[in-house]
Amino acid sequence: MSMLDTVLIWISRNHKRWQGDLEKWLSIPSVSAQEAHAGDVREAAEWAEDYLRNIGLKVEIIATPRHPVILATTPAELAEPGAPEVLLYGHYDVQPPEPLDLWQSPPFKPTVRDGKLYARGANDDKGQVHAHLAAMLAWREINQKLPVRMTVLLEGEEEIGSPNLMAVVQAHAAQLRACKTLIISDGNQFAKGVPSIIYGLRGLVYAELTVTTANTDLHSGQFGGAVANPANALARIIAQLHDEQNRVTVPGFYTDVRPLTDTERAAWRQLPFDEAKFAGDLGVPAVTGEAGYSTLERLWGRPTLDVNGLTSGYQGPGAKTVLPCRASCKVSMRLVPDQAPAAIMAAFDAHVQSLAPAGTKVEVHWHGPGSPPALTAVTGPAIAAAQRAITTGYGIAPVLCREGGSIPVVTWFQQALGLEAVMIGFGLPDDRIHAPNEKIDLDGYFGGIRTAAALYEELGQALR
Ligand code: BES
Ligand code: MN
Ligand code: MN
Repeated sequence: MSMLDTVLIWISRNHKRWQGDLEKWLSIPSVSAQEAHAGDVREAAEWAEDYLRNIGLKVEIIATPRHPVILATTPAELAEPGAPEVLLYGHYDVQPPEPLDLWQSPPFKPTVRDGKLYARGANDDKGQVHAHLAAMLAWREINQKLPVRMTVLLEGEEEIGSPNLMAVVQAHAAQLRACKTLIISDGNQFAKGVPSIIYGLRGLVYAELTVTTANTDLHSGQFGGAVANPANALARIIAQLHDEQNRVTVPGFYTDVRPLTDTERAAWRQLPFDEAKFAGDLGVPAVTGEAGYSTLERLWGRPTLDVNGLTSGYQGPGAKTVLPCRASCKVSMRLVPDQAPAAIMAAFDAHVQSLAPAGTKVEVHWHGPGSPPALTAVTGPAIAAAQRAITTGYGIAPVLCREGGSIPVVTWFQQALGLEAVMIGFGLPDDRIHAPNEKIDLDGYFGGIRTAAALYEELGQALR
């Protein structure tokens, strides 16, 4: 029996322990967006620091203007001689749990129901990061040494756009460049029983659009009809942002979009995707989107523009006859290769200004610098190693997927460090990340621990 087999048995004997450890981490409300939780974010960082130190890594907590970065390295004596260096990236911050009343059990009181562990961060991303930490710990406990020299980089600001990560990365660039590959587990399997390698992500830019009119709210009878209504104006602007085919009307929006190849479209058609079930699970009467594309193509390979929040005027009980003087909305645009965040921002800015109805003033504010879309190579020894590791960990070979979400660092690391990511997700598409009742399927999590353990062994051989 190989050492890996022994490690895998040890993992299965310790399921309750791994889960208990993860539940402790999940109990710390590390909500990066809310200043009131800054202390909790710090506590979650310190929990990971202790955990990594207990595995035997050398750990540093690096302060940033906001939330700390954890950087851990493997001392020579903890790795097999000649073991290759490998970088693991993940995040320990979580999205706000609100609205709280929709949670069936409290977001920071991890609870198991029907083989699933419910808590904010259970999937995104503490559960997936912890699968790696558990795998490292199992290797340490069985073999004393790890098959790879792990560098672990965990940030507390992913959910707010990673504003301070790259300064830390630049300061440690020489050390990080020594790593031969980058592992990220911050996404999903294609479906339960269909594990995947993720080779693409969409990018993101996020705007807040404000329409203002008079210097005060006004009586809607006394002034309505003579003064522009910002809510009506905003609605007109939003309505003009898509055409009848659900294409985005911003001039130049599609200029840099790389068309999907026939090969890629054919490969995606082979995936076991049930559109009726997809719609049924979500409770929508039908799926819809840009004309001429399938659901997976729309989600993974086409850009979007969506209102994420919308507000104006009186929203309390009863009727109040008032003409508001302000309306605003939040807009996300998901980008695909080769759209550049800066170019899309400029095009959107110009377009909405041109749509401003008479008597209104339109302003655009951008939240963050945006996240570029990512595509990673699907060839090479690290990907082949990941394919074998997933086959070991889940008992079934992975499919190749892209995802619709965004992880800013994937392209930044390509550019700054020349490091290609190998992305393996341990979650499931119905885990409700960012929403009430986030969960991780425990089979997927334990399979993730086995996959990570096998991946280290495979990379230790393949990257030597
Ligand atoms: N883990 C997600 C990204 C993701 C979601 C990957 C679904 C694959 C499938 C990540 O934590 C996230 O939520 N990213 C943000 C972007 C960020 C700049 C705030 C997103 O996609 O909205
Ligand atoms: Mn995430
Ligand atoms: Mn997220």
